[in-house]
Amino acid sequence: TDTLDIAVIGGDGIGPEVVAEGLKVLSAVTAGQGPKISTTEYDLGARRWHATGETLPDSVLEEIRGHDAILLGAVGDPGVPSGVLERGLLLKLRFSLDHYVNLRPARLYPGVTSPLAVERVAPGGIDFVVVREGTEGPYVGNGGALRVGTPAEVATEVSVNTRYGVERVVRDAFRRAQGRPRKHLTLVHKHNVLTHAGHLWRRTVEEVGAEFPDVETAYQHVDAATIFLATDPGRFDVIVTDNLFGDIITDIAAAIAGGIGLAASGNINPERTAPSMFEPVHGSAPDIAGQGKADPTATILSVALLLDHLGRGEDAARVEAAVAADLAERGSAPRSTSAIGDAIAARVG
Ligand code: NAD
Ligand code: IPM
Ligand code: MN
Repeated sequence: TDTLDIAVIGGDGIGPEVVAEGLKVLSAVTAGQGPKISTTEYDLGARRWHATGETLPDSVLEEIRGHDAILLGAVGDPGVPSGVLERGLLLKLRFSLDHYVNLRPARLYPGVTSPLAVERVAPGGIDFVVVREGTEGPYVGNGGALRVGTPAEVATEVSVNTRYGVERVVRDAFRRAQGRPRKHLTLVHKHNVLTHAGHLWRRTVEEVGAEFPDVETAYQHVDAATIFLATDPGRFDVIVTDNLFGDIITDIAAAIAGGIGLAASGNINPERTAPSMFEPVHGSAPDIAGQGKADPTATILSVALLLDHLGRGEDAARVEAAVAADLAERGSAPRSTSAIGDAIAARVG
């Protein structure tokens, strides 16, 4: 169609602030050419929960399902019990819409300073993508607590890994590796301790790998992976890993590539049986919310991932180029959230 129907969930904290800048750039890049953008804003998050007790009503979920894609800011608020919004809204979206590929690219742009020793990370020295499984692992809520608050309290969070779930994300990661110049895939897990899940992942990578003879594979335990992310990130091309390991290592990946304010992500449903969802890797940052200090770049780069997913590769490239140009000239003087959004929007326009 000629209209892109985007469901917009600003969410909590800095979420609405960064999403406004993402939308600014989205309309700038499509202005006068390309598709018409139609956005529907959904009031979800802490405000709604306080007002109604709802996190994500099924009727709203079904409305959201009818869109081409979702742009989300962040979810979570210090005034709401931890987990209520994260599980009831964010994870409910990812699980219900079968976002099994949580795609998190890490790239050091020219002009951006990495906290790592500079001689190890010349621009281009960090350019990898984490394919984080998005619908299984310890996130599924398979656990419980007994005798809460007593000395005999027991809590479990069982990690669920299905052959179906592991195989489909591993195959997606191989495809992505095959499409990149280096054609290299690293499985990150912990099969020396998590022997059941670890062996399932390892065997699956071996077996699916037979379909991709041109892709070289490597394995790293997650603890060692954090060493190499901090000392030699240039070795990584595509990383495939489970939901929790992927959550953790993508914050490290963000930090080494210039900071959490730059890290974009896509929660992808590759078969397109439901809309995919694009969001910065960061959270609602209550410590800086409402002050116009949040960097909207991660959200703007997530808009580029959204455009790419919807077949608008040229628009995506223009957004990325505008971000790269802005980063190259950014300097150290702090700019407000909207000043950064304006500058990038002006460059794509
Ligand atoms: P966070 O990512 O919100 O913040 C971590 C640190 O990074 C803070 O110091 C924050 O100020 C800074 N930061 C984050 N985004 C920034 C930006 N765009 N520009 C500049 N600085 C930025 O993580 P947290 O503090 O662990 O979590 C806060 C809340 O967000 C919690 O409720 C958590 O559950 C939630 N959360 C949500 C998501 C999501 O919606 N995808 C992701 C992570 C955390
Ligand atoms: C992220 C966040 C979420 C996650 C939380 C808020 C559920 O940390 O998107 O990285 O763990 O996936
Ligand atoms: Mn996270």
